[in-house]
Amino acid sequence: MADGRGSFGSRFAAIMALAGSAIGLGNIWRFPYMVGQHGGAAFILLYVFFCVFLSLPVFFAEGILGKTSRLNPLGALRAKAPKWSWAGYMGILAAFVITSYYSVVGGWSLDYFIRSIARGFHGMTMEESAAVFHSITATSWEVLAVFVGFLGLTALIVLAGVEKGIGGFSKVMMPLLFVMMLLIVVRSLTLPGAREGLNYLLKPDFSKIDGPAIAGALGQSFFSLSLGVGCVLTYCSYMPEDENLFATGMWTALFDTIFALLAGFAVMPAVFSVSGLEPGAGPSLVFETLPVVFTKMGGIVPVVFFLAVLVAALTSSISMFEVVVAWLIDEKGMRRGRAVLLVFLAALALGAVCALAPKVFSACDFATSNIFMTLGALVFVLVVGWVVPKAEPFKEFSSSRAGARLFPVFWFLLKWICPIAIAAIAVTNLL
Ligand code: TRP
Repeated sequence: MADGRGSFGSRFAAIMALAGSAIGLGNIWRFPYMVGQHGGAAFILLYVFFCVFLSLPVFFAEGILGKTSRLNPLGALRAKAPKWSWAGYMGILAAFVITSYYSVVGGWSLDYFIRSIARGFHGMTMEESAAVFHSITATSWEVLAVFVGFLGLTALIVLAGVEKGIGGFSKVMMPLLFVMMLLIVVRSLTLPGAREGLNYLLKPDFSKIDGPAIAGALGQSFFSLSLGVGCVLTYCSYMPEDENLFATGMWTALFDTIFALLAGFAVMPAVFSVSGLEPGAGPSLVFETLPVVFTKMGGIVPVVFFLAVLVAALTSSISMFEVVVAWLIDEKGMRRGRAVLLVFLAALALGAVCALAPKVFSACDFATSNIFMTLGALVFVLVVGWVVPKAEPFKEFSSSRAGARLFPVFWFLLKWICPIAIAAIAVTNLL
């Protein structure tokens, strides 16, 4: 059954695909402004703390379930802990919902990439740029066209299969993405106002660490590592059998964090170099402010930047799309082509509603990131910590010396700390 469902073929491809899933819009627009709002370096420390002690154990739990079962989220839970298989359906549903609304924002980045190639931002003022963003999101035909374009690109990559499509695309595009981001960082750091931007990003302000900052850091670390819906589980089911899961997880988290910091270094100095800008502006930061700032830095800069945003968004959206496709292939016996077409059409319907109705968009975002993802993560850690025989996770860790040595720490975090912390968050989110 597991044969013929594809494999990444090499360790490099597996790591690039997982890093591709993790690195996305969350790193480029959410991370920089959250850092700015919540106390600079103090927030970064908190974020790294949550990454290491909560998110990484969840990552490993998902990875172990996928790698040892070689199945999709539903099949994996059914095989390991049948009582919990409802959570598999929930994960697949959540992955589907995120695919739909994420592709709307992915569509905006496609739109901005095309506009920057056409030199559409030359000589524009900030007000004019804001007006462009509003007109794009208000003109229904344009939001729909770019949304369909983005979803279509996602579907085409997934259609090409695990090794050639997802693995191949990630292997080529992820290193390129790092290079593109580095170029922008260098350009951005040499701007006149760069120091102020760096200060904003790096000066620790511990007085800003309050409830929302803590919840924000945790939520961001979950979202950024693509946890709780079965993306990591599904990708790890395509890993070569003898592959070292421990090292793969460490590399993925490391790349993800480095990239988030790079994005901060690219965005904030640029924002500060133009006076009078609101760095905590949120989504509008990337889509209203940056085209103007980057165009002033040279015609090629906005093209490179929006290409980077587009690539980052695509390598993430394919990972959610693939979760649903894997379920249809494994459980419904569908061929890949059919499964891709079906998911494409269904996501087209839900995404179109999200694109045209901002209320539905926010509701989808809220339900998935506050309820489905936390609940899914809770089930994954409980199943690996309490249901699966301990020998299974131990075997995955013991293929490297560092992993074997750190296993007791991981086991303690997974069994006790993660369930309690995640349950507490789930309850707070529901209240
Ligand atoms: N991690 C991606 C980002 O930072 C988004 C993402 C991909 C995601 N797959 C996910 C988020 C699954 C939640 C769940 O943009």
